[in-house]
Amino acid sequence: MATYDVLIIGSGAGGLGAALALPAHLSVAVVSKGLLAQGATNWAQGGIASVLGADDSFDLHVEDTLVAGAGLCHADAVRFVVERAPAVIDRLAAYGIELTEDPAALPNGVHYHLTREGGHSRRRIVHAADATGRAVQLCLQEELARRQNIAALENTLAIDLIIDRHAPGGPRCVGAWLLDRATGRVVPALARSVVLATGGASKVYLHATNPEGATGDGIAMAWRAGCRVANMEFVQFHPTCLYMPGDKPFLITEAMRGEGGQLKLPGTDTRFMVGQHPLAELAPRDIVARAIHHEMTTRGLTHVDLDISHQPAAFIEEHFPTIAAHCRAVGIDITRQPIPVVPAAHYTCGGIVTDLAARSDLAGLYAVGECAFSGLHGANRMASNSLLECLVFADAAAADIVQRFDPAFVPLVPAFDAPPVGNAAPPLEEIVAGWADAIRALMWREAGIVRSVEGMQAAQLELAPIAQAARVATLASRPRADLIEAGNLAAIAEMILRSALLRRESRGGHYVVDFPALDVSAPPADTVISRAA
Ligand code: FAD
Ligand code: SIN
Repeated sequence: MATYDVLIIGSGAGGLGAALALPAHLSVAVVSKGLLAQGATNWAQGGIASVLGADDSFDLHVEDTLVAGAGLCHADAVRFVVERAPAVIDRLAAYGIELTEDPAALPNGVHYHLTREGGHSRRRIVHAADATGRAVQLCLQEELARRQNIAALENTLAIDLIIDRHAPGGPRCVGAWLLDRATGRVVPALARSVVLATGGASKVYLHATNPEGATGDGIAMAWRAGCRVANMEFVQFHPTCLYMPGDKPFLITEAMRGEGGQLKLPGTDTRFMVGQHPLAELAPRDIVARAIHHEMTTRGLTHVDLDISHQPAAFIEEHFPTIAAHCRAVGIDITRQPIPVVPAAHYTCGGIVTDLAARSDLAGLYAVGECAFSGLHGANRMASNSLLECLVFADAAAADIVQRFDPAFVPLVPAFDAPPVGNAAPPLEEIVAGWADAIRALMWREAGIVRSVEGMQAAQLELAPIAQAARVATLASRPRADLIEAGNLAAIAEMILRSALLRRESRGGHYVVDFPALDVSAPPADTVISRAA
């Protein structure tokens, strides 16, 4: 049985950021259910928001984030993150990241190229062309390889947290049950502190920009452990995912609209965002995604067009080399043709309730990155605030872990605790895939960009037997990753539906036809739920 000072579950910007922020004298394990680079971080395109421009200020970045968040951002969390952004960029630079530079350095000496994305009133997105996430993931992994105190365990799936309910001072997280996917063995990993950095849950939807592993495992584990979860109804739908039925999802970065890309009705020059919002194509994401959804449903369209072909070809190739190459491979020359796009689930704004030190409700348990609800994003995350949030709260968690470190505390598996799995033969893979497909189709239909109370109530009824079957099978069967993920997806779907039905208004990413306006009768409030309540 392995014991560490710190167990980190997840190897994206949140998990690796936390591991690297911890001092060398602590023993750290980072576990990842796939390869280290298989999370959303590696897929990020646009960049990282940071106030660097001479015309910009922390106050403006704060204000833009609050506006995008539609009244639900926590002002203290927003300022906390925004003011730490320049230090995050410096830290990545110290790890050796290669960011796109501007030949004309700004008067204040800043030499990065700053692009724009939705909701940002200034150019403040630092980026590595259109593959920023790859650059972030790579530099974090390269730094990880230089650290002797950090063990990286790939293909290791965390099933559930281990909780000592009789620890001195009250219930405490002391580790997690891990499935070694190569051997099928389940072992406990014990730790003085545990950090959940498992990413988001957008794969609960049929159409998503996310990698396969975005099944909300960390949120589901924290939920089962009794932690509060907040604002799960606020799912962000990215307006522009490449429309290529049958292919793997591929995002077309919002930075393309930041550099002049225009949304048009297919085959025409009609820019339908003009007149709908002062920022037109650069309005906050929820507004653009809903406008596209409206055009598609009222006109019976399969997609809309995103057109950047009016910009010089060299400019397009320089700024968007990855997208240009991907589109070329599927037969679209973006220097001459518009790109067919559709909205898709992109980001989980809600998550495990945490404070400014990334602490969850449970002693010893931290949550960082997309699985956490830090209060930063409110009802709609502003573009490129996410990688930033990961790295800021990774630092905050590491600092708190160090401050509270107690070498005298010895984590143990509590008496009578057993792995949360059984010995029966698991259901056939086709059956489990059927459950996951049914959940995804249901959520897309009833809890997508436009929702109704009746539809969501019907979805709850349809979901209940699937969730029950997945739960029972997980507990009774020999563990298998697809089965555990299907159970987690069901739990996430339940949380989204329950939260969405509690909110009797439309706000940010949550739009429900029965309550199409903001509720101004009371101050805006988060939707906070827990298993107990
Ligand atoms: P992830 O990077 O998703 O990592 C999650 C990790 O947890 C993975 O290592 C996974 O294997 C592991 N894991 C999950 N469950 C388990 C388990 N049960 N056991 C063990 N390991 C587990 N944000 C920006 O700020 N700027 C952008 O330009 C941007 N572009 C994006 C483009 C795309 C296509 C997508 C999908 C997202 C984008 N985002 C962007 C959002 C951003 O990338 C994510 O929010 C962020 O990377 C999440 O980081 P994370 O560390 O929380 O999780
Ligand atoms: C994008 O590049 O459009 C995604 C940015 C983000 O999700 O923050």
